[in-house]
Amino acid sequence: MKAGKRITEMPAYTPIEPVDILASRLGMPVEKIVKMDANENPYGPSPLVREALASMDMVHIYPDPESRLLRDALAEAHGVPVNNLLAGSGADELIDLLARVVVEPGDSTLICPPTFGMYSFDSLLNYGECVVIPRQADFSLDLTAIGKAVEEKKPKIIFACSPNNPDGRLMTPEEIDFLLGLPSLIVLDEAYIEFTQENLDLGRGRTLIRQVPQRDNLIILRTFSKWAGLAGLRVGFGAFPSWLMDSLWKAKQPYNVNLAASTAAIASLKDREYLARNVAKLQSERDVLFNRLSDIPFLKPYPSQSNFILCKANGLPARQIKTELAAKGVFIRYYDNDLLRDFIRISVGRPQDTVELIRQLEGLK
Ligand SMILES: Cc1ncc(COP(=O)(O)O)c(C=O)c1O
Repeated sequence: MKAGKRITEMPAYTPIEPVDILASRLGMPVEKIVKMDANENPYGPSPLVREALASMDMVHIYPDPESRLLRDALAEAHGVPVNNLLAGSGADELIDLLARVVVEPGDSTLICPPTFGMYSFDSLLNYGECVVIPRQADFSLDLTAIGKAVEEKKPKIIFACSPNNPDGRLMTPEEIDFLLGLPSLIVLDEAYIEFTQENLDLGRGRTLIRQVPQRDNLIILRTFSKWAGLAGLRVGFGAFPSWLMDSLWKAKQPYNVNLAASTAAIASLKDREYLARNVAKLQSERDVLFNRLSDIPFLKPYPSQSNFILCKANGLPARQIKTELAAKGVFIRYYDNDLLRDFIRISVGRPQDTVELIRQLEGLK
């Protein structure tokens, strides 16, 4: 017996390990671990989430297949009609769902690496091919090459991420307009949009979500994993054009958003002021971290509009930096491939996380 050819031949996506596993491997207490590898929110959820979860009832009953209460709350929060909204078990689920619904064998999607790995993973898993148009040295999109590839390969979907993971660059209005003028579905992944503004509006001035109902080819993906500190509960959502909704509803798992996830997401939407203060703390810690990383002789940090900072390593291999920090309980992400040769990505943490990271980086030679 054998699994299918496609899955067998595909490269695997490597997820990040949870903190208790990392701690027990090192024989360290969990509180000593500095976890800066998965762009999580170190301040965790709102206290209203803990209260709502503690008084959660009806766990013996399947959750609402349409996530109505959550979608109503999202519609109100974002000014988007509820009929254009679909919730998912993380934005990850929605990327896969979309690929399943749109991509047929022989179709292609277009990705602009370096970027989030699930776009190519889910395209390939769902029998699509990936047209790859690498970003330029400053991580901007190569619009000329994208335009040409769209003419030649006619990708069904173009995945774009703003701010992009792993560099934290926000797309320009010109880049967005260019993509929206192409005859492909544009998935704009705004997983980190809440970290862009310096004020406390949680990215509302930046998001394109309110444009979705007026356009035929724009999809916005959002998540509660980052700004709301709910990564462990798996909840995200998307705004999709009306013509796609029936197919998405038909294809999704019937009870894809569990009760704890939707309860927590609704409570988070009720406590946006509290959560916005945590986002503001991370925004100001991003500046501190950037300055401290700039003082490390073997690192060159890139300005970021997100809750992580990408750095080029010069003189020390990125893999060695990662391994040596990990041995001390400080976890970061490293890249060493054709597009990112010797880069590390560090999630923004609390002030004490920055202090420990810098202390360990200073100890590396
Ligand atoms: C760009 C981007 N999109 C989506 C996700 C996944 O979000 P979720 O936790 O909602 O599945 C991530 C997670 O790191 C991400 O970096």
